[in-house]
This record gives sequence, C-alpha cells and structure tokens, in this order.
Amino acid sequence: MKILVTGGAGFIGSHIVDRYLKLGHEVVVVDDLSSGSAANVNSAARFHLMDVRSREFSTLLELERPDVINHHAAQISVPASVQNPRLDADVNILGLLNLLEGAVRSGVKKVIFISSGGAIYGESAMYPTDESAPLEPMSPYAIAKAVSESYLRFYRHHHGLDYTTLRYSNVYGPRQVSHGEAGVVSIFMDRLLEGRPCHLYHFEGEPQGMIRDYVFVGDVVEANVAALDRGSGEAFNIATSRETTTRQLFDLVFENLRELAGIEPSLAEPVPGPARPGDIRRSCLLIEKAREGLGWTPATSIEEGIRKTVEWRLESNGK
Ligand SMILES: NC(=O)c1ccc[n+]([C@@H]2O[C@H](COP(=O)([O-])OP(=O)(O)OC[C@H]3O[C@@H](n4cnc5c(N)ncnc54)[C@H](O)[C@@H]3O)[C@@H](O)[C@H]2O)c1
Repeated sequence: MKILVTGGAGFIGSHIVDRYLKLGHEVVVVDDLSSGSAANVNSAARFHLMDVRSREFSTLLELERPDVINHHAAQISVPASVQNPRLDADVNILGLLNLLEGAVRSGVKKVIFISSGGAIYGESAMYPTDESAPLEPMSPYAIAKAVSESYLRFYRHHHGLDYTTLRYSNVYGPRQVSHGEAGVVSIFMDRLLEGRPCHLYHFEGEPQGMIRDYVFVGDVVEANVAALDRGSGEAFNIATSRETTTRQLFDLVFENLRELAGIEPSLAEPVPGPARPGDIRRSCLLIEKAREGLGWTPATSIEEGIRKTVEWRLESNGK
C-alpha cells in the first residue's frame, strides 16, 4: 500500500516510516523540519520538505494519491501552545483541514490521526481513563487535538473518509529530543550527561512530581501498523496503564546513566520547581479498547524501555 507519513522526520513518525518500509509498503514523507531532522528520514522513503498548511502539500496529495495518510506532523509543545495559541491552531487545526480537504480530493481511503490521551482528558475523574471519559482539554495544544478529532468524525460522516485516531500517552525512546510533550526523558539524559542538575516540576504538596503513563516508541509503532486496516472510525488510547511519577522516572534514568556512563552521584537529587502552565497532575490511560479493536498490547516495560533509550543516547553520543 502507498502511505504518506506527515512528520516522518520527527521522533515517532520516523520510526513508523522505518516499520512501514520493512513491511513492504511504499512510503512518502512530508515534513518541514521545524522540529524533525532529515537524518531521521529513511533513504528508502520519498521525502518532500513541505509544510502541511501549504498549497504545495494539497498539490502533492493529488499527485501521490496515497491509500493512507498517517498524520504525525504537529506543533507538539504544550507550553508553546499556551504562549502562542494562534500558531498552535494554525499548524494543528488548519494544517489538518488542509490535509483532510486534499485527502478527499485525491481519493485517500484512510487517515491515521495522532491525538494526545495525555492531554485531552485533562484532570480526569477516573483512572486509568478510558476513551468514553469526557474530553476536558486544559491547554490550546489539547484543545486543538480534541477539535481535530471532531473534524475527523465530520469528514467520515460527510465525505466517507475513514480514520483511526490514536491517543498516545507520553511516548519516549530513541530519537526523541528535548523539546517535546514528553521530552522529559531526553531532558534528564542531556542534563545529567552535561553534569547539570535536573529540575523536578511538581504541584504543591506532591514532591514526587506529576503522574504519567509512559509508553515506549517501539510499541507505539505497532499500533500504527494495526491501524492500517483496523479500528475504522474509532479513537484508541495507546499507553500502558502503568503510573510513574516524575521522581521514579528520574531515578530510573539516573541509575542507568550511573551504571553505563559513570555520572556524578551528586546529581542524584533533582531541584524542585513549580508546575508549569498547562501541566496536569495525573494521567494514566486504560488500553482495553486497543487490545480488542486493534489487537494491540504494549510489550516493553518502563525499565526495559528506559534502558534501551539510555543505551541509544550513549551510542549516539559516541561514548
Ligand atoms: N511525544 C509524545 O509523547 C506525544 C504524545 C501524544 C501525542 N503526540 C503526537 O505525536 C506526533 C509526533 O510527535 P513527536 O513527539 O514525534 O514530535 P516531533 O516534533 O519529533 O515530530 C513532529 C514532526 O512534525 C514536523 N512538523 C511540524 N510542523 C509541521 C508542518 N507545519 N508541516 C510539516 N511538518 C511539520 C516536525 O518537523 C517534526 O518532524 C504529534 O502529532 C504529537 O502531537 C506525541
């Protein structure tokens, strides 16, 4: 099948491109390299340096006529969306509309859309949170993701354009850099390797930090394989259902780096700091729907995933 991956030069999208190619699909990548890197793009894919908001992109869709569009391109920073909601909406809402209009015109059969289960439910009343929980987005980034999901329903209903939405929790793994929604693993690794103390942001009275559900990128990739021909017109949480505090995550990264790179024991205590605008206290997602609807289940524990990520970071550091 011919698959066009937007954001295919980014952290998660580039792993998906690799996997689709390995499965024998023809892959076209569109990315403006605003946060991704050309070095991540598999040389067996056809790469177009392009903005998903542009007219060029609509033209490209009509030329390429892919069977499926996998949409990973986005403005991904929650703090940036709080500072500049217009820019966030421009990329994340108008970019999606440009894609959907082009998809209808060029006979695309399905869009795989990437939403954020870590952000759209806000402070949920139920943990782990399932897909039927009310959407309570608390940042412009999360609002844009929630609205995008509504647009997808509209295009399916009105134009017959099929979709599957994957609501990721906090994704981590090789190729992640420190600017993202869940760049915390990369931020900790960077700072510790530079011999600088880490910050642990937390709400008052919760010194262990925020609670998150961290999912390894290799597992996320398999959900994108399943979504090629399953999960029609549905949204699925892609997560682990396991809660990890920022402190537990920090300790895991620290211990691995101490063992593998001999970093200073004096860096073992992170510096506390206040939660940032748009932060939520707790996020943990139920994944039964993805088990049933996509036949997907995560295979990597956080201990194993952090180990692999630290090993990748040290290898790419030339250590
Ligand atoms: N990382 C996470 O934990 C997480 C969690 C939930 C959802 N997501 C979603 O997953 C997707 C991928 O995120 P990521 O973590 O790999 O981030 P990333 O920044 O590595 O990837 C995004 C890619 O999109 C490209 N891009 C941005 N704006 C573009 C535009 N206007 N036109 C073309 N390309 C553009 C960037 O250059 C980059 O390569 C995003 O939609 C993000 O919202 C990520």
